[in-house]
Amino acid sequence: MELVETVQELNHVLRNHRNSIIGFVPTMGYLHEGHLSLVKKAKKECDFVVMSIFVNPLQFGPNEDLERYPRDLERDFDLARQAGVHVLYHPSIKEMYPNEPLVTTTVSESISKVLCGKYRESHFDGVATVVAKLFNQIKPNRAYFGQKDAQQLAIMAQLAKDLSFQIAVVPCETVREEDGLALSSRNVYLLEEERKQAVILSQTLSEVKSGLIARKWQTPDEINNFVRDRISTKPLAKLQYIETLSYPDLQSTTSLYDKQILVALAVFFGKTRLIDNILFSAEGESHVSNNDEIQITSGNRYRS
Ligand code: PAF
Repeated sequence: MELVETVQELNHVLRNHRNSIIGFVPTMGYLHEGHLSLVKKAKKECDFVVMSIFVNPLQFGPNEDLERYPRDLERDFDLARQAGVHVLYHPSIKEMYPNEPLVTTTVSESISKVLCGKYRESHFDGVATVVAKLFNQIKPNRAYFGQKDAQQLAIMAQLAKDLSFQIAVVPCETVREEDGLALSSRNVYLLEEERKQAVILSQTLSEVKSGLIARKWQTPDEINNFVRDRISTKPLAKLQYIETLSYPDLQSTTSLYDKQILVALAVFFGKTRLIDNILFSAEGESHVSNNDEIQITSGNRYRS
């Protein structure tokens, strides 16, 4: 595995792989099994895998955890190498933003001001800007994003489509701890008792899934109220939001069973903010399957 830190080095390393299928796994580091599952999928589907590690200041608000976001490049290097990543791209802030950018990417409020975007001012503009830059620098054929960040995944697919990146955005299933907690770099912040109570997120969502399969609810409000009740049983949990929307367009919906829906929530434990979600469609009965690209995906670019 090669570690590269500049666009110039990246061009040099990738020059001999332009006829291969290049898979890209964007991350902010502090790797866990969730990231490694993206690599695994990329390795299955591509000839050559590039992972980026870049904690992107543009997507953090002034009161968020940019400074204390966990970092451990040495450990990440070993994990990425063992997982079979070919190139680990770790640019500096100066390399990514040599000057304050005067041109950035803006995501429509209809998909960026719901769910997490309601509480994270310009977060998705920051994500879209850095991912557009990484797409341009790496020029992958396929890019892998976790379904745990379902809003980000939907926005990335829309970004690829609307800005005509010839890149397939590939959704990857959420990886969970044995008790159901979705893996996240931020889980390390949780204190022992918070960690115990955090299982309420996945437990509740799994009850929602069973309820939907049994057609227990008729409106999003009924689901949202059920989730509010459940989360309130844990004294350390503070619900930030629960929303049930159509997916991937992230619009309010009155019906639950004639389209794919997303049930997503964010919960604080102390200062630590956790998110989780499920995707449900009555037809397919469950979430986006492991092998599907989501509907708004732009065309694949295969070996020429
Ligand atoms: O999901 C993340 O880790 C980040 O938002 C991403 C996609 C790497 C962009 O900085």
